[in-house]
Amino acid sequence: MLEELKEANDYIIGKIKETDKLILEMEDYAKEFNVPIVTKEVAKYLEFTIRSYKIKNILEIGTAIGYSGTIMAKECFNFQGKLTTIEIDEERYNEAKKNFEKSGLDNIDLHFGDALEVIPKLDETYDFVFMDAAKGKYGDFFDLVLPKMNKDGLIFIDNIMFRGYLYKEYPKRFKTIVRNLDKFINRLYEEHDFVLLPFGDGIGIVKISS
Ligand SMILES: C[S@@+](CC[C@H](N)C(=O)[O-])C[C@H]1O[C@@H](n2cnc3c(N)ncnc32)[C@H](O)[C@@H]1O
Repeated sequence: MLEELKEANDYIIGKIKETDKLILEMEDYAKEFNVPIVTKEVAKYLEFTIRSYKIKNILEIGTAIGYSGTIMAKECFNFQGKLTTIEIDEERYNEAKKNFEKSGLDNIDLHFGDALEVIPKLDETYDFVFMDAAKGKYGDFFDLVLPKMNKDGLIFIDNIMFRGYLYKEYPKRFKTIVRNLDKFINRLYEEHDFVLLPFGDGIGIVKISS
């Protein structure tokens, strides 16, 4: 979460009352085992977007334990939609599998592997992509999903401002990721219909026009 906006974000998060048992269980698990999951206000925005645009076919890059996946699959189920989601870490993949089973949702296609290898093998097209995996590879993920997007589709890119390191001092080890993300943002502004929103950890949204 962007530290500069932490108080505003905390206020918003304080207003969100979650009652779903599985979602609450996953939040506790993520906290206990230090698994990064989408922040609550961003999860709400995801749900809101899927509902508003009646989004059907969703691709998620970075499942973790299936937290955002469950939220999105539940929402698009109302429009006969389906979620395809990819996770590279075996332990998290197995945890997500269990959580999806517990959810009772049958509109989820979970893949184990590196999204860079899995995406080219997917033969569907998507209305919505939630990009939430290795930040340094965002440009590569984007190039792979672009040809698979339906007209008017949205690509939702989480953590695009990478803890604020794009505009403030950052630890040296993140130099390459910061440079790649900064170049990626320039490219999105120059070549696409793109907005950058400073909440959560920075969200980028690309609208596909053709
Ligand atoms: C921020 S977490 C995802 C959180 C999840 N979307 C949620 O909000 O519940 C990012 C995940 O991406 C996975 N990941 C990283 N690089 C990946 C890759 N190349 N392909 C697939 N998954 C990847 C990580 O193992 C991690 O579990």
